[in-house]
Amino acid sequence: MDDVARVREKIDIVSLISEYIPLKKMGRNFKALCPFHTESTPSFVVSPERQIWHCFGGCAKGGDCFEFLMEYEHLEFGEALRTLAKKAGVELRDSAFAKGLSSKKEKIYKLNRLANEFFHFVLTKHVVGKKALSYLSSDRKIDDRLIETFMIGFSPKSSNALVNYLINKKGYKKEDLIDAGLAFQRNRDIVDFFRGRIMFPLFDHRGNIVGFSGRLLSEVAGLGGKYINTKETLAYHKGSMFFGLNTAIPEIKNKDNCIVVEGELDVVSMFKEGIKNAVAIKGTALTDDQASLLSRFTQNVTLCFDQDNAGWMATERSLGVLEKKGFNVKVIKITNAKDPDEAVRSDPFSFKKDIKESIGIYDYFLQRSLTLYNKNTIEGKKNISDFLLPVIERIENEIVKEHYLKKLSLELDTTYDSLLKQVEKIEKKEAGEDGKKTIKADKSSRREILEEYLLAIVAQYENPSQITDKVSSIIKDYVFETPSYKKILDSLSLYAQKNDDFSSKKFLNDLPSELIKTFDTCFLLPIPKFEDLGKHRVEIEKVARELRVIFLKNKIKEITENLRGKEKEENSKEIESLGKEASMLINLLSQS
Ligand code: CTP
Ligand code: MN
Repeated sequence: MDDVARVREKIDIVSLISEYIPLKKMGRNFKALCPFHTESTPSFVVSPERQIWHCFGGCAKGGDCFEFLMEYEHLEFGEALRTLAKKAGVELRDSAFAKGLSSKKEKIYKLNRLANEFFHFVLTKHVVGKKALSYLSSDRKIDDRLIETFMIGFSPKSSNALVNYLINKKGYKKEDLIDAGLAFQRNRDIVDFFRGRIMFPLFDHRGNIVGFSGRLLSEVAGLGGKYINTKETLAYHKGSMFFGLNTAIPEIKNKDNCIVVEGELDVVSMFKEGIKNAVAIKGTALTDDQASLLSRFTQNVTLCFDQDNAGWMATERSLGVLEKKGFNVKVIKITNAKDPDEAVRSDPFSFKKDIKESIGIYDYFLQRSLTLYNKNTIEGKKNISDFLLPVIERIENEIVKEHYLKKLSLELDTTYDSLLKQVEKIEKKEAGEDGKKTIKADKSSRREILEEYLLAIVAQYENPSQITDKVSSIIKDYVFETPSYKKILDSLSLYAQKNDDFSSKKFLNDLPSELIKTFDTCFLLPIPKFEDLGKHRVEIEKVARELRVIFLKNKIKEITENLRGKEKEENSKEIESLGKEASMLINLLSQS
């Protein structure tokens, strides 16, 4: 057996996936809300028998234990294999996957770690870092403990300090440094990417250093903006991680809340004041990926962005993303400063009070619209309601919705009823758009859907091969729109002739390989829960009959249309035989 098979055999997919998301038993399979796209009814299915998973909702992803981990943790195959091998206590033998030969991404992690040690040494021990160290401690009030916690460093101003260290001392190649985003080619030289900057290593939630952000120590011409970040590399993708998450995870879980701020120094300063559940989006808007990542640790997010227009815009945009994923969102309004870092330095008590008094996102929007527009003019009233009603319309809970509509009606001095009418208008418009979408998305015919359903309830029957003869006797000469279903039914019958009990493993051993995927889909497709075997069997027979009826009706329709044509041609012989066939089919239909 090869490495991959040995690991797969040792890992139980149900317990593996349960470590990440709650699974619920449903018949033969387990179900959950899909972790890879947003949905409100579970369509993510795990099969303990087949040791695979599949999402029947929007994203349609699926696979085995390796594919789950790759998808969930954004790993390459080799990384997933090594992680699971470790978990299963399997020693890898194949040279290609053995420990020494790490992937390109793992090489970048290693280089980043060395670079981080270098920057950290320069800041804390070397004379070149002296100025930066004193800036951090006196201007930013960041002491040695914080520097250790966040592994902060300093990159020397010279053009190749890190390059020399990694190439001459550590034996790396030029290309490795470029791949990691630590250096770039300038004419014939290779040059450090970060120069004269306070260095913040960016850890992912698993503790790998994926990249860096560097803040200028002093504004020097030619060195670029105040902050620069590692460019996209194999390991670093902007917008899919947070600064500070790996340090904050225990406290986020503990408080069941995460405070999202803009900058690195906000996180560091808050940590100093004992506020350890904060992470930074680093000045960009919160993305879907970031929200998914957070949802693994908490469903409660408190936004605390800068108190300026950019910050408010980021708050509004982030809300949309968080709302879609079902987060409870609150907002902190800082009373005495422009950002959390400043707030902590100027008045930590007042800032902690601000945190305690964080308001619900809808109150935030209400307050915000009232500062943006003048509620005493007609124009202002319209602007306020245009700004707020689409937000209020999306509130799921009717009591909460009514609460805000009433509050708004008081503010605008208008009736509750007219606001409600306006909200209903928005709802109608959205429903119309949704309706159009579903019609477009649904390409399969009713027959195709029924066929798939029939195969699913057969495959998930206690002993599928025991019911196939019955199904065949009902559908008779039925011609499947999807021929592979017919082949699977026939294989099940064949299996029944040779075996008494059913094992999917045994069955799949003999099934032609091109049919395995189709069978697996049916084996995992979510089906209703049947009270007992009898009810399950009744449903199978009913669906088989329905398919046959649709089939016969279609045929009769075809013949009648054909007959009409022939009558025009006055072809009496054919008319007679078609007529006979039609009446025979009608006869069959009445028996079905
Ligand atoms: N940022 C960035 N690239 C920039 C500017 C900002 O990545 N060109 C990110 C950084 O993560 C920074 C955050 O956005 O921490 C907030 O930026 P800004 O408001 O400009 O930071 P300040 O609070 O003014 O800067 P500092 O506290 O570092 O003095
Ligand atoms: Mn700041």
